[in-house]
Amino acid sequence: MAERIFVSRRIPEAGLRVLREAGTDVIIGQPDTERGIDRSTLLDGIRRCDVLISLLTERIDAEALYAGDRLRGVANMAVGYNNIDVSAATDLGIPVSNTPGVLTDTTADLTWALLLAVARRVPEAEQYLRAGRYRIWGPDLLLGADVSPGGSGVRKTLGIIGYGRIGRAVARRARGFDMRVLAHSLERAEIEASGDVVWADLDALLADSDFVTLHAPLTPQTHHIINERTLRLMKPGAFLINTARGELVHEHALVTALREGWIAGAALDVYEHEPALALGLTDCPNAVLVPHVGSASTDTRDRMALLAARNALAHLRGEPAPDTVNPEVYHGEPFHSRHGAS
Ligand code: DGY
Repeated sequence: MAERIFVSRRIPEAGLRVLREAGTDVIIGQPDTERGIDRSTLLDGIRRCDVLISLLTERIDAEALYAGDRLRGVANMAVGYNNIDVSAATDLGIPVSNTPGVLTDTTADLTWALLLAVARRVPEAEQYLRAGRYRIWGPDLLLGADVSPGGSGVRKTLGIIGYGRIGRAVARRARGFDMRVLAHSLERAEIEASGDVVWADLDALLADSDFVTLHAPLTPQTHHIINERTLRLMKPGAFLINTARGELVHEHALVTALREGWIAGAALDVYEHEPALALGLTDCPNAVLVPHVGSASTDTRDRMALLAARNALAHLRGEPAPDTVNPEVYHGEPFHSRHGAS
């Protein structure tokens, strides 16, 4: 019997082709790309597969992992893997992999697209024009905030929370806008060694930045890192950008901040309870909102699918997958007995 890879929802053909060429039996749980997979189909698929390819929309918790008696690995087609209970997977001897690297630039680009859009009110200006309201140019028409020093010559400060691959790619782009860059993350020494980026503690970064952008993974420590207290620390003219994970932000507090002018605006790609949005968010004219499209370029999505497929095949063969997030699993008895028994 061919080994079976269960793909929770359809992924780009580039990845599926690699799986089929390897002679595996590929089952797609939800072929309709605009719908999620229901829980019972997911659990049933896991029960009957050797490797699971999941998306960030699936909750791969202990229940799901325990369902997979013959499960040899989970390949998540995303760099974030907060949807997976990695510690339960490790206990069970199941390696978990992600797709780092290939989406760094694409996500950094979207961060800048959002930052510029919210500062210069691009969506609002477009709606104004499409609504037929543009009758005459005027000196005060749709005024926004400068990102580069602009007419005032004053350099703006970009505060980056989370200084991994994407945070660093965002910082590199800031040079083109002649910005001063602050960063807050656990890698203080690395930031201090980098030269042109200054490490700051969280409160100082929030108080000092004209733009605050989030690039930290979701962990118990970063959950709601942006909340009523931290929003109140930001300057009234500052903007918040989030292309990381929605749960980093207390979304109700953000809606209040946007309504009451604690900050000037926010641009979001991710949401606390996505795809649902906090009540009132879409009514805020100073919010730019897009549907989790940080890595959404054709090339990058193909590469993510390819990477997930390669990781999945390594899991199948019992080889250490290069992007394993719990590599300690390979030294444990549960991993070996799972493979010996397969
Ligand atoms: C990820 O990979 O974690 C992004 O959120 C989606 O590409």
